[in-house]
Order: sequence, then structure tokens, then C-alpha cells
Amino acid sequence: MIEFKNKPDKLQPVIASDNRLTETFDSYAEDYDLSFNNNFIGRYQRQRVHELLAEQLTPSQFILDVGCGPGSDFAFYQKMNLSVEAIDVSKRMVQIARQRASALIYNIDIHQSSLERFDTDRRYDVIILNFGVINAMDYFDKSMLKLKRLLHADGRLIIIAMPPVHIFFILEAMLKLRLKQTWQRMVQKYAVLPNGLKVHYFTKQDFKKHFCIEKAENLGAFMPTPHQYQKRPFIRRYSQWAMHLEQTIKTMLPTAIGGDHVYYALRPVRHNE
Ligand SMILES: C[S@@+](CC[C@H](N)C(=O)[O-])C[C@H]1O[C@@H](n2cnc3c(N)ncnc32)[C@H](O)[C@@H]1O
Repeated sequence: MIEFKNKPDKLQPVIASDNRLTETFDSYAEDYDLSFNNNFIGRYQRQRVHELLAEQLTPSQFILDVGCGPGSDFAFYQKMNLSVEAIDVSKRMVQIARQRASALIYNIDIHQSSLERFDTDRRYDVIILNFGVINAMDYFDKSMLKLKRLLHADGRLIIIAMPPVHIFFILEAMLKLRLKQTWQRMVQKYAVLPNGLKVHYFTKQDFKKHFCIEKAENLGAFMPTPHQYQKRPFIRRYSQWAMHLEQTIKTMLPTAIGGDHVYYALRPVRHNE
């Protein structure tokens, strides 16, 4: 019989920004599968991420899934035969992730913790921040340094980040004359959600300060966001066509053209580089 390691976490001091993150993502948790994982655009992007990850990962590697959400990638990790530990700041996301791991009969240590508070002596072969986890982090440089410390020297960091430029976002913002919002995202590289949570947008140059970029690929450059897809039937029809276009030209596109997300495979910089 498999013994699950997932036990309730010991209470640790929680800082104010953790509370806002927890509240925000607790409120997304119930609908997360519907809005993202079972949404055509979300599924398309995740499938592309899994194809790219499969080129990188080898069985029994030790993985840290930072911001695991409801365990969206657990079935994929299991199929790849990986040994996984996961953290998420949201209590509700962690509860759902634990249920998912149990349903899969997959032994994953899942902690309710922010990256900032996560404390361990372990080192990981690969650390994954999938689907915009990095965009919710207020302290980019500190987070990058922490992630580097948690990696083996020859480890890899995989980040799937929302970039400042996404054609569909710009189109909608322009049509609605949301000029300030467009300026903030594209030039100042942030947005403030209605609940006050600040979202940050990153480019290749930001990651280059801390890591070597092994691969950078746009996900959904000509496609809408999952939310736009849900709202409008004509966008749903267009998306099927756009997916074929993107699959044909995806490797020719510079990352500056953006997308709903961009996939980055990063390697720590060596001393002699
Ligand atoms: C958009 S969801 C992505 C979930 C999952 N990675 C996926 O691919 O579906 C972002 C997740 O990151 C978590 N998160 C955000 N900031 C975090 C932080 N600083 N430390 C740990 N988890 C964080 C949120 O609670 C949320 O579950």
C-alpha cells in the first residue's frame, strides 16, 4: 500500500503579501480546471509545455513544482516517472492538489508555502513554475536567487511566464480604449487586478540577468487568452484556425512578439561564462 507523505503543514508565520496571494488564488481554485485546464487555449498551451518539457526531463529526476495550483501537471509528471515535491501558497489549491495526487495514487510531498518562506536543504534537478506563477511574485531578483540556490549546479529552471506583449490583450485593450492599462503592461510591465494583486510581466532580458537561456518559445502568440476564448463564440472559431497557423510558424517567431505565455528553459550561469 502506498503511504502518502502529505500531512497538514506546521503553522509558520505568514507575511502580508502571502495573505493577499492566498486569498486571490483560494478564490480561483474551484473554477481553475474549468477556466484553464479544460479550456481549449489553456489545454493547447499546457500540451505544448509538456512537449517541450518531455525533451528536457529524464525518468526519476527530482522535481520541485513551485505554485503547483490544483496539481495541473501531476498526471504528466507521473507519466514521465518523476519524483516530485510541490509547494503552493494557496491553502485551497494545496487541498485540491493533494486530492489529485491521491486520486492518481502518486506520492508527492505538497506543502502550503510561498517560495519566499519555503525552507529546505534539498536540491532539485528541475524546478518548474508553470502558467504564470512568476507573474505573481513581487520580488523578482530575490526569487531568482532563491530558485538558483534550490537547484543542483547542472539543474534546469523552467518558467512559463506571461510577457508584456500579447497581441490579443493589446487588441482588446485598444478596442476598449484602455490606454493606461496597455501602457502599464507593455511599458511599465505590471497590472493591478481588481482585488489589488499586482501582476508583473517579464521579458527574456529579465531572466538573462540570472540564468542562461537554453530555450524560449512563445505559447499562443496569435491566440486569445483562455478568458477571451470563453467569452466570445467568434473568437472560439478563430482559435481553431490560429492554432494551426501557430503550429506551422512557432519556431520562427521571436519571443518579443509575445504570447499568452512564453516558455523559458534556463540554466544557472557558470563561473567561467
Ligand atoms: C496561475 S496558477 C498556476 C498553477 C499551476 N502551476 C498550473 O500550471 O496550472 C499560479 C499558482 O501559483 C501560486 N503562487 C503564486 N505566487 C506564489 C508564491 N510566491 N509561492 C508559491 N506559490 C505561489 C498560486 O497560489 C497559484 O496556485
